[in-house]
Amino acid sequence: MEETSQFINLRPKRLGEYIGQAKVVETLKIAIEAALKRKEPLDHILFHGPPGLGKTTLAHIIAEEMGVNINVTSGPALEKGGDLLGILTHLEKGHVLFIDEIHRLPRVVEEFLYPAMEDFAVDFIFDKGIHARSHRYRLEQFVLVGATTRAGSLSPPLRERFGIFRTLDFYSEEDMIRIAKRSAALLGINIDDDGAYEIACRSRGTPRIVNRLLRRVRDFAQVRGDGAIRKVTVQDALALEEVDEKGLTALDRKFLKAIIEFYKGGPVGIEAIAATLQEESDTLVDVVEPYLLKIGFLTRTSSGRKVTEEAYRHFGLPIQQGLFK
Ligand code: ADE
Repeated sequence: MEETSQFINLRPKRLGEYIGQAKVVETLKIAIEAALKRKEPLDHILFHGPPGLGKTTLAHIIAEEMGVNINVTSGPALEKGGDLLGILTHLEKGHVLFIDEIHRLPRVVEEFLYPAMEDFAVDFIFDKGIHARSHRYRLEQFVLVGATTRAGSLSPPLRERFGIFRTLDFYSEEDMIRIAKRSAALLGINIDDDGAYEIACRSRGTPRIVNRLLRRVRDFAQVRGDGAIRKVTVQDALALEEVDEKGLTALDRKFLKAIIEFYKGGPVGIEAIAATLQEESDTLVDVVEPYLLKIGFLTRTSSGRKVTEEAYRHFGLPIQQGLFK
């Protein structure tokens, strides 16, 4: 079937195409080249960072560069030790097992993973009590690539079993512009420098967001304009999407305004904010907060979250005397 443009995969497939995260990319290049030279599998790798920054993309790239298959699963999908055993026993030497949201692995499955990672063997226990029998399964030397938004929620024994542990940070403005232009070229979109700059600035340093917004702006340009993307096209299209000049979404604004309006700017605990907004606190912590912290609109203190002076200014709100003294 011909690839229609809404399904064109914008993810880079090789390290050479990857924009940004230069140090992480260099670490991977060296580890991959060394492993290929020695004809050995890679060390286990853990990626940490907010959603949309490329953890899954890098896992696929690693498999591609090593010339091996990848098996993709996630922490919550593996409910029992047996679920993981079924996957592990089918992995071939050097192949990649990617576990997304690895911090959400149930404890029983996690304990199963320790000997698998370290000794490439798992002890499976059948039945219980006096009928219990254990069987040791030997595994091929697979490569575990884990991804997590919460390095702190990972148990130390699991974390310590990864030979490579890298955090992905938000992308710089220049990298976001390059990604916007690369994606536009792949989608056959005509975008000028100012258009690319404008969309890059509104994408929260996150490639997944720039790629999503690019498709929305393209729709807008084709329906309301001549198909080309300029600064004003991005401004008009994203006003409709309720994405502001800083890239804040309706949820980001609701989050900050809840703290300002209900809690006098904080400090306030995350559970109280979640209850006020009727949102999951995990979503707020993993998706909303990281960028607000990054741009200095929010601080986290021992007594809770506080909105900063910059955030008040962004909303054009008056700052009460003494609030930030
Ligand atoms: N598309 C999404 N993420 C990308 C990246 N880091 N480099 C190039 N293209 C991308």
